[in-house]
Amino acid sequence: MSLIEQIDKDRLPQHVAIIMDGNGRWAKEKGKLRVFGHQNGVVSVRDTVEGAVELGVKYLTLYAFSTENWNRPKLEVMALMELLVATINKETKTLMQNGVRLNAIGNLKSLPDKCYRQLQETIKKTSDNKACTLTLALSYSSRWEITDAARKLAEDVKDGKIKADDISEEAFASYLSTSGMPDPELMIRTSGEHRISNYLLWQLAYSELYFTPKLWPDFRREDLFEAIIDFQKRERRFGMTSEQLN
Ligand code: FPP
Repeated sequence: MSLIEQIDKDRLPQHVAIIMDGNGRWAKEKGKLRVFGHQNGVVSVRDTVEGAVELGVKYLTLYAFSTENWNRPKLEVMALMELLVATINKETKTLMQNGVRLNAIGNLKSLPDKCYRQLQETIKKTSDNKACTLTLALSYSSRWEITDAARKLAEDVKDGKIKADDISEEAFASYLSTSGMPDPELMIRTSGEHRISNYLLWQLAYSELYFTPKLWPDFRREDLFEAIIDFQKRERRFGMTSEQLN
């Protein structure tokens, strides 16, 4: 049986989040510059998005650039931004063909102008697509997102738009940049690191975590399928007992 046939289509995770890690190490292993790893990481992004669409995963969220990544050498940051602009521009057609809606979360205002404009242009162009929402986390960190949500919420309380007593988990979540999306049921991290690294801390509360030693540029849709097969073997209890679930 092929990998995709082993997947129960009725129990797909609606939302898969990925920490794409290991581009630098992949390049180093080949005696190349880190940027070479990022360039090849784009091939993995394309194949993974296509795999998600093929399966019917509704939301795919990729950690493309963290707040902390601004501290990398200036040349690498610039190369990553250029790569983002070029990739989004080049892939807009394929996103349209595959029915993928582009979305972005993070402190987008801190991105270079060119990057911000390209992002907004493709987000607008793909906004009616329904097959899958591809969210890029850019200049993103979860603590930034939660702090930003708290700030906006505090303003709304001050303006009388919401009462402090009415702040429920749902109300708070509506101030996060993932508002309207289901929480990821599955989070994948490549390259053998076992950390969350300030990624979707609120949203990953009940997620299954899947770690693979594969470096991101080697990751392909088959690896996504394997992660989902593994996910489907697990029992998600949300704090209940097995008996209660059955
Ligand atoms: C992590 O590897 C990867 C990144 C910080 C960047 C991810 C970017 C891409 C895959 C390319 C552009 C993406 C899109 C969505 C078009 P690392 O550099 O931290 O690797 P290392 O841990 O081996 O140093």
